[in-house]
Parts: sequence; C-alpha cells; structure tokens
Amino acid sequence: MTSSSLERSTARAMAARLWLRILCIAVATGGVLQARAQPDLKGFISIDCGIEAKTGYVDDMTTLSYVPDDGFTDGAGTNHNISVEYMTPSISKRYHNLRSFPDGARSCYTLRSLVPGLKYLIRAVFMYGNYDGLNKLPVFDLYIGVDFLTTVNITRPDGAALEEAIVVVPDDFVQVCLVNTGAGTPFISGLDLRPLKSTLYPQVTETQGLSLFGRWNFGPTSNTEIIRYPEDPHDRVWLPWINPTDWAVISTTLTVQHIENDIFEAPSSVMRTAITPRNASANLQFSWEAYTQPKDPVPGYIANFHFAELQLLPSNAVREFRINLNGRPVYNESYKPTYLYTDAIFNRKPFLRYLMYNISINATANSTLPPIINAVEVFSIIPTTSVGTDSHDASAMMEIKAKYEMKKNWVGDPCVPNTLAWDRLTCSYSSSSRPRITSLNMSSSGLTGDISSSFTSLKAVQYLNLSNNNLTGSIPDALSQLPSLTVLDLTGNQLSGSIPYGLLKRIQDGSLDLRYGNNPNLCTNGNSCQLAERKNKLVIYIVVPIVLVVVIVSIAVIFFCLRTRRPGPVSNSIGPQNEKKANAPKNGDQMHSSLPRLENRRFTYQELEMMTNNFQQELGRGGFGCVYDGFLEDHTRVAVKLMFKNSQQGDKEFLAEAQILTRIHHKNLVSMIGYSKDGDNMALVYEYMPEGTLHEHIAENSNRRFLPWRQRLLIALESAQGLEYLHKGCNPPLIHRDVKTTNILLNAMLEAKIADFGLSKAFNQNNDTHVSTNTLVGTPGYVDPEYLMTMQPTTKSDVYSFGIVLLELVTGKSALLKDLDNTSIIQWVEQHLVRGNIEDVVDARMHGDHDINSVWKAIDIALKCTMQESARRPTMTDVVALLQECIELENKCSKYGNMTSHFYTTNSENHHSSYNMYNVDQSTNVIQSDDAFEVRHDIARVSMDIGPVAR
Ligand SMILES: *[C@@H]1O[C@H](CO)[C@@H](O)[C@H](O)[C@H]1NC(C)=O
Ligand SMILES: *[C@@H]1O[C@H](CO)[C@@H](O)[C@H](O)[C@H]1NC(C)=O
Ligand SMILES: *[C@@H]1O[C@H](CO)[C@@H](O)[C@H](O)[C@H]1NC(C)=O
Ligand SMILES: *[C@@H]1O[C@H](CO)[C@@H](O)[C@H](O)[C@H]1NC(C)=O
Ligand SMILES: *[C@@H]1O[C@H](CO)[C@@H](O)[C@H](O)[C@H]1NC(C)=O
Repeated sequence: MTSSSLERSTARAMAARLWLRILCIAVATGGVLQARAQPDLKGFISIDCGIEAKTGYVDDMTTLSYVPDDGFTDGAGTNHNISVEYMTPSISKRYHNLRSFPDGARSCYTLRSLVPGLKYLIRAVFMYGNYDGLNKLPVFDLYIGVDFLTTVNITRPDGAALEEAIVVVPDDFVQVCLVNTGAGTPFISGLDLRPLKSTLYPQVTETQGLSLFGRWNFGPTSNTEIIRYPEDPHDRVWLPWINPTDWAVISTTLTVQHIENDIFEAPSSVMRTAITPRNASANLQFSWEAYTQPKDPVPGYIANFHFAELQLLPSNAVREFRINLNGRPVYNESYKPTYLYTDAIFNRKPFLRYLMYNISINATANSTLPPIINAVEVFSIIPTTSVGTDSHDASAMMEIKAKYEMKKNWVGDPCVPNTLAWDRLTCSYSSSSRPRITSLNMSSSGLTGDISSSFTSLKAVQYLNLSNNNLTGSIPDALSQLPSLTVLDLTGNQLSGSIPYGLLKRIQDGSLDLRYGNNPNLCTNGNSCQLAERKNKLVIYIVVPIVLVVVIVSIAVIFFCLRTRRPGPVSNSIGPQNEKKANAPKNGDQMHSSLPRLENRRFTYQELEMMTNNFQQELGRGGFGCVYDGFLEDHTRVAVKLMFKNSQQGDKEFLAEAQILTRIHHKNLVSMIGYSKDGDNMALVYEYMPEGTLHEHIAENSNRRFLPWRQRLLIALESAQGLEYLHKGCNPPLIHRDVKTTNILLNAMLEAKIADFGLSKAFNQNNDTHVSTNTLVGTPGYVDPEYLMTMQPTTKSDVYSFGIVLLELVTGKSALLKDLDNTSIIQWVEQHLVRGNIEDVVDARMHGDHDINSVWKAIDIALKCTMQESARRPTMTDVVALLQECIELENKCSKYGNMTSHFYTTNSENHHSSYNMYNVDQSTNVIQSDDAFEVRHDIARVSMDIGPVAR
C-alpha cells in the first residue's frame, strides 16, 4: 500500500469515530408501555430520556421497549424536545427529546435491581439538536457510579454522541451521573443497560472497566447498516467501516458459529462480512488517532480483532497473517482464521500509549491469500478503583432519600467524591475500606411518617439527628443494634410508644446519648404512659423492664454524679448524702428525663473548621487555648476552645477527661457539647454564653450592661451552686483550681455558669496567665495561700478564689489593684473596713441601690472564704446557704418598697439573718447583732492574718 492510501485509511478511521457519533437512523413507532424502572426479562433497561412519564413505547427496529426516565432521576432535570430543524424523519424517536440538568453539580440516573458483581454494558447517547435554542454545544463529564468514564464533548448539534462502558457493577444498583464542569448544561437523550456474562470481555475486572472508543464491522457497503439487537443478543452497536478504495469485501450467507467458550460472542451478522486488500499483494491497514481528553491525555487502548474465514479454501491455499501495531507485532505467532467460526486476537494489557495507532495486518511469507478482518473493537481502559460508599450505607441512604423525598444535593454516591458528598452527612474515608457514613443530620427537614428501618442499616453511624420533624410511630428498637451510635436525637417529633428496651440498655451502659424530649405522645416512664389504646398483657412485659432499667440507670448516674439537677433552692441545705438516699428511688423519673443530657459527641478537626468557619471569630483567649465562635449543624451556637498544643497531657488522658467532662451537667456549669481529638489538635466544644464573662460586666471600664446588686448576688449564688456541684455532686470531688471572674460566664438571662472546670486536671499547661509551672494552677490574685505553700489543692482552694470573686462583685475592683501596686483586693477591703467605711468599698456604680445589710453579709461571706487557714473557711455548701440568706435579705428589703436599703427588721427565728434594724448612716459605727460582731471579729482576724504579710 502506498503512503497515500495509509493516509486515506487514517482519514477513514477518524471518520469512523465521527460516524460513531451520528448513528441510529432508526424509525420508531409502536405501542405504549407502562413505565418500568426495572430491567426487562432479558435484564435490559432501555430509557428514552425526556419523554413524558408513563409514555413508553416499543421500538420497531430493535423490538426493544423504551421506558421514560422519570422513575430513574428522582425528579431532577427538565424535559425538552430538540429544535424542529433537527427533528427530521430519519432521526430515531429516541433523539427527539432529552432531559437537561440545569441545577446541581451532579445529576444521576439510578438503575436498580442489578446483580452485584456482574458485568454490564452501559450506554448513554446524546443529541443536542439545539433543544435550548442557545446553539451552544455543552461539554460535561460522565461517570459510572463514582468512576469517571469520559468527558462528553458535543461537537455538532445534529450528531448523536454515544458513550459506552463495560464494567463490573459492585452493588445491586448503578448510577450514571452527569457532572456539570461549567462548560454547559449536561443533558442526555437515552440510556441503556445490558447484562453480560462474566466470561465475556475478560479485560473487564472489578478494578478495570472498558470505555468504548469504536466497535466497527468491516464489510457493509452502506453506512446505514448498523447491527445491534436482536442480531447481537447483547445489543452492542456495530458500526460499518467502509473504505471501497482500498478494501474488497468478502461475505457469506452462512452462519458464523461461536467457538466454544467464546469470550466476545461477536454476532454472526457482523462476522459474515470481512474485508481484504483490494490489491491482493498489499496488506490490510487501518488506524485511529488517540482520542485525548483533559482527564486522560493519551489513553491506554485495548483492541479485540475479530476473525472468521468466510471462504472454503482449497487444500493448497493458506491464509496466514500477523497483526502489527506501529510496525511491531501485537501477537507473536502467525494466525490462520477458522472457516465459519469466530475467533479473536486481543490484548489484556493496554498497548503502549501512542498518539496514532497504525494497524497493519500482513500476510506471512507462506500465505497464499491476502489477510482479512471481520470486525474490531477498540476500548480505552478506565480504572474502577475509586470505590464508592459502602453498599449497605449507600442503599440505605437511597431508601431514606426516597422515603422522605429529600431533594437537596442528595444525588449520586453519598460520600464520593468528597467534593460532591451529600449535605448533612459525614463520611469516614479510609484507604483500606469503602467510605462509611458516620453522621447523619436530618434535623428540621420536614420528615413525616415513621422512622425508616433503613436507618438501622447505617452500621457505622455515630451521630443520628432526626430532631424537629414530624416523625410519627414508635422508635425502632433495631436502632440499638447500631454498634457505633453514640448520639441519637429524636427531639421534637410526634413519636409515640415507649423507649425500646435495647435503647434504654444502651443509655444505661453509657454508650448512647438518646435525646427524645418534646415528643408529647412518647411514654418516657411508667406513670405518664398513655397506653390506653393498646391495653394488653404485652404492655406489662414492655413497661416492667423499662421501669427496672430506669432505676438501674438512675443508680448508674448517681454513681458518677450525685445530683444532676437541683430541684430548687429550698433543698440546697440538704446534704449530698441525704439527697442520695432520698432521690435515688423516688426520683427515678427525673433522673431518667435528665439522661438525654449526657452528651458525648466527638468532632473531627475538619468539623471544627466547618463549625467555626475556619476559626474566624475569636471570642477570647485563656490559659488553655483560644475560644472561637461556631455553630453546630442545627445552628446551635457554640464556643469552640482549641487547646494550645503545648499540653503534656497524653491522648488517652485527654480523651478520658473529655468524656468525663461531657457527662457533667448542672445548670450553673457551662455545658460541654463535645470534644475533639484529631491528630494533635485537641478542642472542647461548649454551649455559647452570649453575655460573656462576669469580668466583662463588672470591670471598671466595662461596656457591658451594668449589673445591679441583686443581680450580682444571684450571680454569686449561681456560681457558688456550680462550684458546690463540682465539690459535692461529683465523686471524687472536682476541684476547679481556677475560679475567677473570667471563668464565670453569663447566658442571655444573665444566669451564671462556671466555665473551664476540670481542665486543670485534663491539661498540664504552662502559660503566663498562670502563676506556676508544673503543678500549681491558678491566676494571680485568686490563689489560695495554703495551696501555694502545700502545692496540694483542695476544695477550700476554690472557696478562697470564690471569696475573691465575691469581693469583686461588691467592689467592682479587680483581684489585684493595678493602680495600687497590685494590692490584693482583700487587703484593700480590709483597710477600708478597718477605717469603718463600708460605702467606700461598695462599687460606686451601684449608686446606693442596694441593701447595706446584704452587702455587709456578702463581704462577711467573702472574708470567711478568704481566711488564711483553709479549715476555717466555709464549704461551698455553706457558702450557698449563706448567699441565699443574703438574697433573702435583699428580697425582704425590696418588699418594703421605699424603705429598701435603709431599714430592716430581722427574722429572729433565722439565726443567720439576725442583722438588726440597721441604718445606713449608722452603718459604720453601729453593729448590734452577734452576727455582726462575728463579722467584725472575722475582719479583725483576717486583717491580722494578712496584715503582717502585706504591710
Ligand atoms: C415534545 O413534543 C411532543 C409532541 O411533539 C409534545 O407532546 C410534548 O409536549 C413536547 N414536550 C415538550 C417538553 O415540549
Ligand atoms: C471539545 O471538542 C472541541 C473540538 O474538537 C475541542 O476544541 C475542545 O477543546 C474540546 N473540549 C474539551 C473540554 O475537551
Ligand atoms: C507490514 O506491511 C506494511 C505495509 O505493507 C509494511 O510497511 C510493514 O513493514 C510490514 N510489517 C512487517 C512487520 O512486516
Ligand atoms: C512456512 O511453511 C513451512 C512448511 O509448512 C514451515 O516449515 C515454515 O516454518 C513456514 N514459515 C513461516 C514463516 O511460517
Ligand atoms: C408538622 O406538621 C404540622 C401539620 O401538618 C405543621 O403545622 C408543623 O409545622 C409540622 N412541624 C414540623 C416541625 O415540620
């Protein structure tokens, strides 16, 4: 052959690629079929995209039934007809319409009821036909599941582009996804799925698929002689490749048989024709140019050359040849085709990568006849190693999506690629296994109906939030079988029935935080159970174990923290021992209802970044780390405390400590919502306290709203209650070790909560805001002198620091007075009191709006708290009681209207409140009651204790 004929062949080959893209000139008519989103009896799925729902039809030529696509797309996309100028009679009905996907990055067709592990041929066809009147040819990406197949580049409006893959489908479904790459709106005209025997196409494995470049039949004389179903039972589309200048046609009317165990099963009608060089002494040549695209610049090609001898050769005739690619043999031995039997020469490993693939089939020296070829298939390799989400998880998510009609971006694989992962879920990615779904937040999503059993298939889920929906029915017990589930939030639904036994058990062993509040019909304990509708014996069997479990759970909780919630101020004087006895058996309900507060959520660093918008807004900076503003998925505002990295704390200790902290709940302790230990990043996530620190409110240059005396007293009481809980409610007692006004936070209602408790234990820190190095923890001005000497913190160290806080509340001064050479606030108060002028120490901003008796009492309490000897300091329980009396003083005072803060008659029955009628004007001189003397006495003593040191 001459070089010019080579060029012509090349030109033909490229034309063939083009022909591939303008195929299917088949006229279709036929009966209307019901829409069927399932394979037919042959296992075929044949979809005509963009026709109206319920308007399927049978294609006359292929006899295949085409179904509309609405059952495959979850309602995404819009239907269009191609523009009339392209709707010529020769265009198959299938191309008259299409579905386009203007919204969303990824749009998918889900093909179901497949056999996992089987090979499937998946074919998508695209004809633009200026359907949108924009005359802009789009380019977009096509994926099979999570594997990139090809970039669909529509290069002409009247051509039908065909893309085909042969892959092993790992699940009982496969998704075909169009991904918008910003180069035009993705659309699709038709989609086919054909099952293949697993022995076919041995190049296709679980890790490697084939993307069709061309499937050509040699020998037809007309470009319209396309062969597919029913001639090819697998409905492959064989396009004619015609070059009458160089090639002569050989054909037969006989059937060409498959050899045994044929791995390609090229159909007889394709094999019945072949080509041979017109010039009998020449060789057969054809070529193709690599179809390069951005994601696969030079693909690795696989070729299947199909041969069958069509002429009955005389005994002395030999047809023998070799196949060469770019001058090198692709198959070492010479080859003789067999009469009327199909056979193939193919490669398993892709060819070396070339820009041009020149095939020449050369007769051997012994051959008496020129070479022939019947058909060729060329594929490029696509890796199918990018594994999708665990198939159980993915199936469950698709069922959940369908059941609750979730739109959002819930399209395609839930986790892969992570750039297109579904909203509201978190996936874990690992190199050794398929991605798993670890959290799912469907809060406030308008869910109705019952809780889908598919949730119980999400075996790796740790956090499941279905709160604030309209879910009805009962809670499935199977949820307790989710081994990793630690938080299940069902708050704010219409659920009924009782909490299943399995879940109660999980709560009991501390492995699950179940939140179910605000479900009015839910029976959460024996008493309030409304089981009237279903009064039968079963109920007894269900209720009895629950009551038992509730009691067990209560005891388990008491074991850790004696009290979860104070019933009210009246009981404050009850000692913890009493309360334990009194509460455990009868207070089971209350304990139970407080159980869901046991929060224990662990965040990844990535989640923290998302929550805080990359740590954008710093709220404050403390001894242990920086605090950032953040939001949970449900828009709950949180404070994220990212620990400084110089902690010497081991990971295990941190985790243990953090887990403990998440279980401590009291209305006067800042709630910890969760924690994070991700690499060496450690963080704690707290409830957000909108009014900031107490320090901000009482500092002299404060721009926060001013706190009146009564408010200050309440804050003192609430802080004391928080500390008391740490000391008495927790076993062993939790010593705060850093009580100060910046560690007392205020919520929107100005209620005080203690922050940073437990941290001193959790972290060995070393920071300049803290006075000492290894073990000493605290802030200058607040540190218990006894602790300083012994290095042994006690609960009384916290009492000391609290006394300082109380003095700050009274005076509005800092713990150390900067302008007075860092004089201690205790010293400053004492100096003024010794001079007998109480109004001198009271924060001038209060403008006398306070009862002087309660101020006196507060100072008394503060000075008792700050006694040098810890043994003489009151306990926090005492302090709480004293402060309550203080507030009673203030309240009684208020009752007398205008007399407030001037006259006060004591309740003589109350020993602690026995301050006598008391006149502000006399306050500095007249101290009449024993208690007042007691105060005086203490002051004197304290002054003496501290005096020598200070002066
Ligand atoms: C497409 O054309 C058919 C008939 O020609 C018509 O019934 C159908 O409504 C059209 N569809 C759209 C989306 O315009
Ligand atoms: C699409 O095809 C056109 C014409 O062949 C080419 O110029 C363009 O670069 C292709 N676009 C992409 C994204 O492959
Ligand atoms: C095969 O034939 C072609 C064209 O006749 C020739 O250029 C090439 O060298 C031959 N290849 C071999 C390996 O003989
Ligand atoms: C040609 O045929 C002869 C006899 O059949 C054999 O010995 C020889 O190896 C063959 N040559 C080639 C190149 O196949
Ligand atoms: C629940 O349904 C009721 C009535 O159908 C509706 O008023 C209410 O807003 C729904 N609640 C939620 C949380 O969706």
